[in-house]
Amino acid sequence: MTITKICCIGAGYVGGPTMAVIAKKNPNIKVTIVDINQERIDAWNDADVSKLPIYEPGLAEIVEETRGKNLFFSTEIDKAIDESEMIFISVNTPTKTYGKGKGMAADLKYVELCARNIAEVATTDKIVVEKSTLPVRTAQAIKSILHNTGSNVNFEILSNPEFLAEGTAIQDLLNPDRVLIGGESESAIESLANIYGSWVSQDRILRTNVWSSELSKLTANAFLAQRISSINAISELCEHTEADVSEVARAIGMDSRIGSKFLNASIGFGGSCFQKDILNLVYIARSYGLNAVADYWEQVIILNDHQKRRFSDNLISTLYNTVSGKKIAMLGWAFKKDTNDTRESAAIYVADHLLSEQAQIAVYDPKVSEKKTQADLNYLNTRSEEENKSLMTSFEDPYEATKDAHAIAIMTEWDEFKSYDWKKIYSQMKKPAFIFDGRNILNKDAMESIGFEYSSIGK
Ligand code: NAD
Ligand code: UGA
Repeated sequence: MTITKICCIGAGYVGGPTMAVIAKKNPNIKVTIVDINQERIDAWNDADVSKLPIYEPGLAEIVEETRGKNLFFSTEIDKAIDESEMIFISVNTPTKTYGKGKGMAADLKYVELCARNIAEVATTDKIVVEKSTLPVRTAQAIKSILHNTGSNVNFEILSNPEFLAEGTAIQDLLNPDRVLIGGESESAIESLANIYGSWVSQDRILRTNVWSSELSKLTANAFLAQRISSINAISELCEHTEADVSEVARAIGMDSRIGSKFLNASIGFGGSCFQKDILNLVYIARSYGLNAVADYWEQVIILNDHQKRRFSDNLISTLYNTVSGKKIAMLGWAFKKDTNDTRESAAIYVADHLLSEQAQIAVYDPKVSEKKTQADLNYLNTRSEEENKSLMTSFEDPYEATKDAHAIAIMTEWDEFKSYDWKKIYSQMKKPAFIFDGRNILNKDAMESIGFEYSSIGK
């Protein structure tokens, strides 16, 4: 089937950029992205593209080029579903916060709502594509909902997980390592492969069964997160043995079997997916009684939590075992550079721990608003909103944020931090002036020659 109209349900970090690239590369396909969140859709439609709800390098340009031509953002979900031949489900699948599987399993209520919505309004045959990250065998549930409508509409279900990383989403989409399509119907698979085929070579488009596709996505994230926990585990050992984790990473990374990517020791991984997807994998393994498998993967999360805690414990012990009443400047709040996304950012947990020790926190992040930093903290429910507000303030200028601080904690690897006037920053801080570089982005010798007490991860 040649596709002329696509609908994507969910205008988030995946739906927005993915559909923008599909629209750019397929000018003959009309792509409509729909969402229940009116505010988000309005922001996507804002004439000023610097106000799009998602910050991603290169995204604004593509939206500007395609919006109103063959890319549309709307809250008219039913209409977009019915007029499209292919529907992507790209809604959030967070960790369950209630009931069976609480804190572990993926909450599939949003995905199920989409399936029910499609079943209700579709009057012509559809290819339904799972773009959200889903537990293996979810397609079975979607199929059951779609096939029990009593209508004559035929639905084909495909799994097409997304592998983009935030901050590099557009590059990842334009030059993917691979595109994965799992399905039963060869013609449905080829309809989707043709869309990607406009810019991705066919040898990079993998066809598998639905279950392999669903499980490959969880496995890819688990392996990536495992590498970070592995190097972070070694970073702690380095700190006790005078080995340098960057040197170790370089030495092992030159072994082509190991590879050099994803070996940066850090305060711990954040982001909306690594933790959620591993917890989900652990939950699935346990539900099949595979406890050794579950324990193995759970350790990746345990180590990550340990790394975040270790960072703040180290900061407190270095500041003479108390941060009470001391100003700590946090540079960066996003979970990684080049994104405004803060979900599961290590900064939130480090800030919460330091605030419980009565520190005063000043935050500077080039892309994250004070409204967001406060909302992230309030979500943890550790103290009242008023207390959080009085203990933590955001600044729009890094020099103001760091003025009179006892210590600076680098939480995100934003490039701009490297080019600051560090002498000026030093001159405005309390002495001794400490830097805790949670991202290993500054040069130790340069910082120490200015006068800073500098420490980083794994050195
Ligand atoms: P997101 O929260 O940014 O976006 C999801 C959107 O879906 C929200 O705007 C929400 O309002 C909307 N939505 C929820 N239910 C809806 C409904 N019934 N009808 C219409 N809209 C609805 O989430 P995201 O980061 O884009 O992630 C989406 C999925 O993609 C998740 O399963 C995630 O695991 C996966 N994923 C995310 C990334 C990433 O980098 N963020 C990468 C790969 C895969
Ligand atoms: C990750 C995967 O890289 C994507 O392939 C996947 O599609 C996505 O999850 C998803 O399913 O959501 P993302 O979380 O956006 O992408 O960003 P990453 O670059 O993977 O970084 C995740 C976290 O790990 C960040 O906090 C980052 O700072 C940290 N990290 C990364 C390290 O601490 N060290 C590293 O070497 C690499």
